[in-house]
Amino acid sequence: MCAASRSLHPPWWQSAVFYQIYPWSFQDSDNDGIGDLRGIRSRLKYLRGAQHSLGVDAIWLSPIYPSPMHDFGYDVSDYVNIDARFGTLKDFEDLLEEAHRLGLRVIMDLVLNHTSDQHEWFRDSRASRLSTKRNWYCWADGKSCGRRPSNWNARFGGPSWTWDPEARQYYLHSFLKEQPDLNWEEPSVRAAMWDVVRFWLDRGVDGFRLDAINWLGKDTRWPNNPFRLGLRGYTRQHHLYDRDQALAHDSMRELRQVISAYPDAVLIGEAAADTPGGPASFYGKGDDELQLVFDFRLMKSPWCAKSFRLFLSQHVPSIPQGGWPTIVMSNHDQPRHIDRYGTGGDAEARARVAALLLLTMPGTPFLYYGEEVGMRNGKLRYRDLRDPYTKRFWPFRPGRDPARTPMQWDASVHAGFTTHRPWLPLPPDSSQRNVETEAADPRSLWSLYRRLLALRRMSPALSRGDYHVIEEGPCDCVLYEREARTKTGTVERMLVAVNFSQRPCEFALPSGSSQGLVLASTTADAATSTWDPARIRLGPDEGQLVRLD
Ligand code: BGC
Repeated sequence: MCAASRSLHPPWWQSAVFYQIYPWSFQDSDNDGIGDLRGIRSRLKYLRGAQHSLGVDAIWLSPIYPSPMHDFGYDVSDYVNIDARFGTLKDFEDLLEEAHRLGLRVIMDLVLNHTSDQHEWFRDSRASRLSTKRNWYCWADGKSCGRRPSNWNARFGGPSWTWDPEARQYYLHSFLKEQPDLNWEEPSVRAAMWDVVRFWLDRGVDGFRLDAINWLGKDTRWPNNPFRLGLRGYTRQHHLYDRDQALAHDSMRELRQVISAYPDAVLIGEAAADTPGGPASFYGKGDDELQLVFDFRLMKSPWCAKSFRLFLSQHVPSIPQGGWPTIVMSNHDQPRHIDRYGTGGDAEARARVAALLLLTMPGTPFLYYGEEVGMRNGKLRYRDLRDPYTKRFWPFRPGRDPARTPMQWDASVHAGFTTHRPWLPLPPDSSQRNVETEAADPRSLWSLYRRLLALRRMSPALSRGDYHVIEEGPCDCVLYEREARTKTGTVERMLVAVNFSQRPCEFALPSGSSQGLVLASTTADAATSTWDPARIRLGPDEGQLVRLD
């Protein structure tokens, strides 16, 4: 697959498993109902400790910077500090030190396209046309008859232009009106952001998850976007001019240069799925833009063998030479995959298979907090909602709050997350579905995640090996092999077989196929059994991991 897989000293992030923490919801230490940094620190051993830990390698923290929280931290009002709800810079440094002591890397979220309207850069910019920061944001005069500078619409609904009576011009915001877009054409904006990057890297963070990068450049002549017939909302326009400009790639190349002074740092990009060339275009030539780019196809695809086979046989190989795939099934913007992959049949069985796929497919996996215990999407009433995007489209779109409910640690009244009323309600099933209960049960989803993480950690084939899809087998099943040379020079081969149907299946691989040992099954206990390619049996919604002879 990727050339990097064959390099002698692969970078840490290729074999790492990342765990996304939504700081609002992970652990509250001061009992105000909101998670915080001391809370996260108190749970680090759960993620990577000597005993009984899940066993991940890196955490990605969704934004923890000071923010008015209109977009729950994606509206930053100061890039070099910590929001008081979450703690202080000292709390962050303590967290970082403890994480590193445990061997856990820490990734910050970095919001580049926009700031909060409360950021001093924006206050300064809007104060006067003569401000030195005026050009740091996208300001424009209206057209005649009080019309906006262009027809552009915002990702979160409504127009992207808002009239500012103080500045006496319109400003651009691609998301909420409280999130004015920076003008990335302005060299001092880029310089200021690179200073932010250095600020955190100098403190020891291990890299950044870069937010909404394909929005960075705009056509500053502000031409109207053409309409798409028959569609509504954000998709009713072809977003030709308000995003996806060459400047986004230029900026990522510049950023790659900046971080070259920190050889271990990683950049992970988030771009819209429909950006031209796809998000993978942000790998650039493979070594000049980002090291990792999220691939959200598995977040959009149905639960069926066909789409997973397509992912493996066409999409992963299309990543440019030198790039490295990512495997993502859930995050803070989408409904959790346990519910998204279908509510009929046995959702838990599918979640178990999803865990096997996430941790054995080629690429760097990203777990979303709570998926290891099978946290479901919260069933929230309108009055529980906090996210403006979720509120705006409620009840027609699932929204984002349901996937952001507090972590379910134990069976106590607030699930061990807080003793106060949590900022979003916990689901009623938290008394059964929680870390404490599942960690005590060797057959739980949590125990399966932990076992797979341990197997992956010890297996060069699973963590960074080459792969190929095995085309033989029933159409409801997906089979693939991973392979790598071990330190002692032997070749390790692993096989993954998944039955996506709700019927048992039995089949044979061509004669000459290797025998092996089943190391894990998503339906059985940890007990191992032999793998006979002449008589493969997979139960309904079952996946198996096999070490081939
Ligand atoms: C983040 C969202 C955020 C948006 C605007 C994203 O893609 O993941 O949570 O609302 O960017 O910053």
